[in-house]
Amino acid sequence: QIERKVTALMQKMTVAEKVGQLNQLSDREATGPVTSEYAAKLEAVRSGKVGSLLNVAGVASTRAMQELALQSRLKIPLLFGLDVIHGYRTVFPVPLGEAASWDLEAIELSAHIAAKEASAAGVHWTFAPMVDIARDPRWGRVMEGAGEDTYLGSQIAVARVHGFQGKKLGATDAVMATAKHFAAYGAAIAGRDYNAVDMSEQQLYEVYLPPFKAAADAGAATFMNSFNSLNGVPATGNSLLQRDILKGAWKFKGFVVSDWGSVREMVPHGYAADLSDAAVKAINAGSDMDMEGYAYTQHLEQAIKDGKVKMATLDDAVRRVLTKKFELGLFDDPYRYSDPAREQAVLGNDAHRAAALDVAQKSLVLLKNDGHLLPLARSGQRIAVIGPLADSRRDLEGGWVPGDERTRARVISILEGMRGKAQVSYAQACAPGCAGTEGFAAAVETASQADIIVLAVGETWDLSGEAKSRTDISLPGQQEALFRVLKATGKPIVAVLLAGRPLVFNTIADQADAIVYAWFPGSEGGNAVANVLFGDYNPSAKLPITLPRSVGQIPLSYTQYSTGRPVVNKKDIVYKSAYIDAPTTPRYAFGHGLSYTDFKYSGLTLSSPSMAGRQKVTLSFDLANSGKVEGTEIVQFYLRDMVASVVRPLKELKGFQKVHLKPGETRRVSFTIDRDTLSFYNSKLAWGAEAGDFKLMVGSASDDIRLETRLTLTR
Ligand code: IFM
Repeated sequence: QIERKVTALMQKMTVAEKVGQLNQLSDREATGPVTSEYAAKLEAVRSGKVGSLLNVAGVASTRAMQELALQSRLKIPLLFGLDVIHGYRTVFPVPLGEAASWDLEAIELSAHIAAKEASAAGVHWTFAPMVDIARDPRWGRVMEGAGEDTYLGSQIAVARVHGFQGKKLGATDAVMATAKHFAAYGAAIAGRDYNAVDMSEQQLYEVYLPPFKAAADAGAATFMNSFNSLNGVPATGNSLLQRDILKGAWKFKGFVVSDWGSVREMVPHGYAADLSDAAVKAINAGSDMDMEGYAYTQHLEQAIKDGKVKMATLDDAVRRVLTKKFELGLFDDPYRYSDPAREQAVLGNDAHRAAALDVAQKSLVLLKNDGHLLPLARSGQRIAVIGPLADSRRDLEGGWVPGDERTRARVISILEGMRGKAQVSYAQACAPGCAGTEGFAAAVETASQADIIVLAVGETWDLSGEAKSRTDISLPGQQEALFRVLKATGKPIVAVLLAGRPLVFNTIADQADAIVYAWFPGSEGGNAVANVLFGDYNPSAKLPITLPRSVGQIPLSYTQYSTGRPVVNKKDIVYKSAYIDAPTTPRYAFGHGLSYTDFKYSGLTLSSPSMAGRQKVTLSFDLANSGKVEGTEIVQFYLRDMVASVVRPLKELKGFQKVHLKPGETRRVSFTIDRDTLSFYNSKLAWGAEAGDFKLMVGSASDDIRLETRLTLTR
């Protein structure tokens, strides 16, 4: 029925009106370089030359813009898109932080609440989830994704798409999702944002594309292409990606939006001669909507006349966009997402805060806990809370938050969270950024009156995100110096690190007694940190990305390939694949994260030592909570194909489960292995499994394998 309605509408449309539907402009706020006058934009909306606006939010603003669009000849409603990445008014942990929870339900709920709030504010469409695999922490946007692993990233992509979109597009408490940035944006050379990407097709198919495929299969309504070139072809002009893979092999029925100006950027890329050439190349390659590029509005009509773009190509793109507008119900009621009463009731409500607290505490990774320093006692211990980020609200939110001053004022800082549980003293020592050391003496004084120091340090919110690539990912400013002077007091130190990316913090890693990696944990971050530090929540998070020892090790991921000269004994590295000045191992490995209890793994069995064809095998083992408190273990299942027609990684995550156990409780945990589990892309890019031996490993982290066995695939 929608198809017929779209056809009927398109029959009435001029070419200019069709092109208008493919034009997306930004409201006043810019999330990229601005190239046009605002007044001209308003006129374009009024005359039906704009299909979508981004960066408009709030019932009043979206309603005003929609009224303008409805003055156009065909009264086609606008789509309002916004970067709702980790919450709208209730701020959730940054996506990389949420990924550390490995909790698909909590992540789905977080996306759903973000959608509920954004849609109550008139937004139809979020530019999330970012499903780019990212293995280079110099790249500021690692913050926005699910980390380094393809399997975990794919599962999280699905959870986020389901969360944002709800059961069916068109419900007013859901928004369209965008799987971005298609493709391989996370692999920018040297971690420099917008840089070129050069990778083998096998890497592309095996590591970078699966989360996108998972998002498409989960029904993502839209895709965003990316700024980077991939093996020489800008993603925006890449028909292998957009036509052959996405719309061809994957049968994607939604539409593809360009990234901000990425159509026009094909000119400086040296891939298009001018803006007109860029427009032709982009639409022919499958980019349906031009975000702030002006290439389509200025050149597509002529390109159609010149025969450089077929009418059928234009129609296909327009049909895709209009179909989504119909599915959202905008032709029935263009204002159905603009209800002031709902906006008032929904934004930042208590239920949303509770969900933000839940996922925040599930995201905090306990990296180190020497001598069981944590959890802290509520009384009998004098606690000094110190550090530039201890009483910061903004730094708990992280980047990309459409929040306002009112919601920011409701963020719970770490200090506030701690004060909610115990009497603590406080010294800031230095402001966020920690440029000077003037406050250090007062901080040392405060520390010396205490029995234990909780030190909140890390990156400020504005150091991670788009265009925030860094070559130095150590703690900014004088923060290590602050740690050293506090260490000299001899008091035990619990370091709480805030960051949007893996940081390098070797002194703290070596000398702090306990470390909690808190990411940017959102509106309820302070309460979450306090709950973990005082043991009201037993930490369960595991790193979704490797923390390196130095920038020199980057890129560093647990899915490394073996070499012909592997290091077998770390004392013997001569003529081995190693560094002479540093270990090859990370500071903290993918999957690492401690608990206040202990888990024992035992009794591994395999339902059969071999399998053939489409048979399945079950791997099982006992997981026991051998400690004194209840807790959750994220059990990880890895695999290595021992010999294959192409060299396979030493370990690949193939499954995980979150298992909650009371003290003394044991549970049998199982994973099913089928042919797909053993498959990979061979040198001809054919997906399949090869006969031979596989090492199966289960454990608590990629570097903490507790049990292993062998499986033989016979044919
Ligand atoms: O959605 C973003 C994208 O990820 C980066 N460039 C700007 C877009 C819109 O804000």
